Parts: sequence; structure tokens; C-alpha cells
Amino acid sequence: MKINWFDEKIKKFSSIGGYQKPELLQGSLKLDSNENYVIPKQFQNDIISLARKNSDVREYPLGGVEHLINMISKFVKIPSSMIGVGNGSDQILDLILSNFASKETKVLTSDPTFGFFEERCKLYSIPLIAIPFSQNMKLDIKDFVKQSENANILYLDSPNNPTGFQFSKNELQQLITSFNGLVILDEAYGEFGDYSLANMVKTQENLIVVQTISKSFGLAGLRLGYFIANKKFTNIFMNILQYPYPLSTITIESGIQALEKSNIMKDAVDSIKIERQRIIENLKKYDGFEVFDSKANFVLFDAQGSYKRIYSALAEQGISIRKLGKIGNHEGCLRVTIGTKEMNSKFLLAVRDLLR
Ligand SMILES: Cc1ncc(COP(=O)(O)O)c(C=O)c1O
Repeated sequence: MKINWFDEKIKKFSSIGGYQKPELLQGSLKLDSNENYVIPKQFQNDIISLARKNSDVREYPLGGVEHLINMISKFVKIPSSMIGVGNGSDQILDLILSNFASKETKVLTSDPTFGFFEERCKLYSIPLIAIPFSQNMKLDIKDFVKQSENANILYLDSPNNPTGFQFSKNELQQLITSFNGLVILDEAYGEFGDYSLANMVKTQENLIVVQTISKSFGLAGLRLGYFIANKKFTNIFMNILQYPYPLSTITIESGIQALEKSNIMKDAVDSIKIERQRIIENLKKYDGFEVFDSKANFVLFDAQGSYKRIYSALAEQGISIRKLGKIGNHEGCLRVTIGTKEMNSKFLLAVRDLLR
């Protein structure tokens, strides 16, 4: 039996690079994936052991999702009918793209934007209009307004990964209000930023705000993301587009426990913000570096000609950061996650020794 169409599909998919996961360096200081090691390990242990007690994994998860959504609703102070969940915010973004976008819908975003989002657009052949960052890693809202008419979907990660940039609240509100299409606002790093626009969904029918417990709660391995949007979209998403059982019982129960203890998350976020400033100030001391302001739990810097050497030398010492290379005119971009005080000090000392 000839199945040429299958071979052709395989060929087409092979030509797409796919999302580049960071290298797994066993036992390394992991500062490459914007995870959160500041939140105490005890927090994770406590929620998982309570979740275990409350779980019977012989059964499909029924009812638990509603409880989880009620907890998210209390946390974000938005009615539960406007909240949906997914297997990480990755899955939510993917389901929105695969069901609402196509070759015919243009997506307006920034360059760079969240790598996974860009890869999914490639997979579905969705054209992007990508507005580049300026030399000082900022975006100009006017460029977005100019291109608005040519786009059906606006996707912004706020703050942006990998730059850490966030528009002023006022500017972003104006852009969203004036955009005549679907707006996906990805607030994966929202807690580390200056503001959230989740409340805008109450008045903006075309806005979907996507959030996650991966970053601020330090629970990336649980794979729990959620969104806030108008009731009609939420209902369709949860009952038609989403899988019947998108989250494991352990994820649901752990999520409920984590949200009960959101004060612990807030303390961790506060210390990360203080450490972020320390890292920025320290990296700025090196003449060969250009360091960009950040509203997220990571810092982007251009180490110019020496970025490959710095990346490899740190990796040899068991310190893993993200090698990004060229962004605009910046040739040697590296991104480092803000870890615990001890992790950050090790990173800074290693950099100092390399540049001495
Ligand atoms: C901007 C942005 N959005 C979404 C995600 C995905 O988060 P989740 O773990 O909820 O899938 C990430 C993860 O790195 C991210 O950087």
C-alpha cells in the first residue's frame, strides 16, 4: 500500500526545528529554564504529600478540576466561569493556535517572542508579523499599533521571554483596547512584573490572559497552566477543545494545595526581585557586557564576542545558563535565571573569575 501523503507529512515535520530544550547537565546549577529554586523544597514536599492523601489514581479525575478552578478564581479574584486550565500554559497556547488560527490568520508578536509559541506557529503554518526589539531591548507600542490592521491575533508575553521587557500598563491597555482581533496575553512571568491585566477580561471580550504555576510557585514539573477569558470562550475551551481529563489527579490536588499557600509564593517572588537587582548591578560592572532591565525571574545580557566561551566555561563548572546568541544587533546574548542567593553568588563568582 502506498502512503505517499504520510511520507510527505513526515518530511514536512522533519523540516521544522521544534522547540529547543536546554541541554541536560546532570547535577548542574540549573539557571537555564526560568524555574524557581527560591521557593523552599518543603513547600513542594508538603503539597505533594497532601495531594497524595487526597488522590485515588485508580479513578479518572472527576470534580477535582472544578475545585481547582474555584481556588484559582479566589486567587485571581475573577469568577470561576471565566477560568480554564491546561497541561501547562504551553498546552493552552497550543489549543488556541490549533483551533483558532490557520495559514490565513496573521499573528502579530515581538521578535524575539516565547520560543514554544513561535515553533507552534511554524508547525501550523501560521504567518507571524514580528516586531523587533530596539537596541536597548525595548519595544515601541507605535510599531504594534501600525501593524494592528494587518493582524488577526496579537500575542504578547508580558513580561517577555527572553528579554524580560514589559510595556507600561497604560500603553498595553491602550493597545489591547484598540486591537480589532483576538489578543493572547501570556503572563507566565506576571508575578515578577509590574502589573497583570487579568482584570481587563471583564470588559474585553477579545482578551485571553494565560498564566501558570510553573514559575512563581516553582511547580514547573506539575504542568499546570490556566487562563482567564470571557465566559463563552471558556465554556467552549473547557467542554469542546480541551481533553476530557487534561490534568492528572496529583496535579489537580497539588495545585489546590499550592494555591492555599500563595503567601509562600509571594515571599519567594519578593526575594527573587531583590536578587534580580543584585545580578543586574553585578553584571553591569563588566565593560564587555550589556545588561538589560528585567521584569521577570531572569536577566538577559549580551556578552558579545565572549558569549560562547562564557557559556562553555560555566557549563564545565556545572553552571547551566541559556545560550541565545544573536538577538537584533546583539551578537552574544545569554539568559540567566535568578536562583537562590547561593546559586546566584556561585554564578557571579564564576563569571568574575572568567573575566579576571
Ligand atoms: C512566556 C512563557 N509562556 C509560557 C511558558 C510555559 O509555561 P508552562 O510551564 O505553564 O507550560 C513559558 C515557559 O518557559 C514561557 O516562558
